[in-house]
Amino acid sequence: MRLVVFGASGATGRHVVSLAAKDGWSVRAVVRSEAQRSTLTGADEPILGDPTEPADVARVMGGADAVAVCLGISRRTRSPFAPLVSPADLTSRSVATIVQAMQREGVRRIVYVSAFGAGDSWPRIPWWGRAFLRLSQVRHSMLDHTRSERLLAGSGLEWTALRPMLLDDAPSALPAQEMRPGDSLLSKVSRESLARRVVAVLGEPLTHGRAVALVAGKAHMSATTTSHA
Ligand SMILES: NC(=O)c1ccc[n+]([C@@H]2O[C@H](COP(=O)([O-])OP(=O)(O)OC[C@H]3O[C@@H](n4cnc5c(N)ncnc54)[C@H](OP(=O)(O)O)[C@@H]3O)[C@@H](O)[C@H]2O)c1
Repeated sequence: MRLVVFGASGATGRHVVSLAAKDGWSVRAVVRSEAQRSTLTGADEPILGDPTEPADVARVMGGADAVAVCLGISRRTRSPFAPLVSPADLTSRSVATIVQAMQREGVRRIVYVSAFGAGDSWPRIPWWGRAFLRLSQVRHSMLDHTRSERLLAGSGLEWTALRPMLLDDAPSALPAQEMRPGDSLLSKVSRESLARRVVAVLGEPLTHGRAVALVAGKAHMSATTTSHA
């Protein structure tokens, strides 16, 4: 089974590539520079390409069984107020291009890394969080994830959008879990756990056509450690 990963050089994308390969996928990883192509580990086929360029996307889609999109609109630094260095419509323009190529090639399954706050999850962010997002450059990512999710919803494909709230780079064996009422919106999901979830949902038909909000899983304490006898 062949998986095409867009945004394969990113912090989440790199985990998706290596975890999918360990899970038995043949991974075609799309990156945009020769330096990334030569340093990427785990991919059977690291390929140079622009996710917004129809010819590049058509070229990598042949023979694919599924697609994972881990693209993100980059800023000059990780500060939420730093200027953008990616186009403000990078993710939606890429999704439009990818969806068209999938429809042409008959590829059905796509998992998209979105963000909590996109689409109908926006009103669930408290007012102070929404004010912060509106003032910062992160608003561009949120608006564009919303546009991407709309494109997926109208695509007729078997799509799943994953919406973590906050990400960090801590290594974690804990799963990224679906958000339940009462879960903290400030829960940080490790990019490694998110990637594990991306790979897992590729084979979960119950997530087709859904945007799934994610929080960090909690460690389960054993009966012995919770006993205070
Ligand atoms: N940060 C958070 O707390 C948070 C919370 C929720 C959701 N998210 C979402 O999670 C997703 C993944 O985040 P991440 O931190 O893993 O991303 P990241 O490390 O910033 O990776 C972004 C990826 O997009 C690629 N990219 C950026 N601009 C491009 C362009 N113009 N053309 C082609 N490729 C381009 C990058 O390629 P290069 O390596 O070549 O730059 C990289 O592969 C993002 O969509 C983000 O909005 C983030």
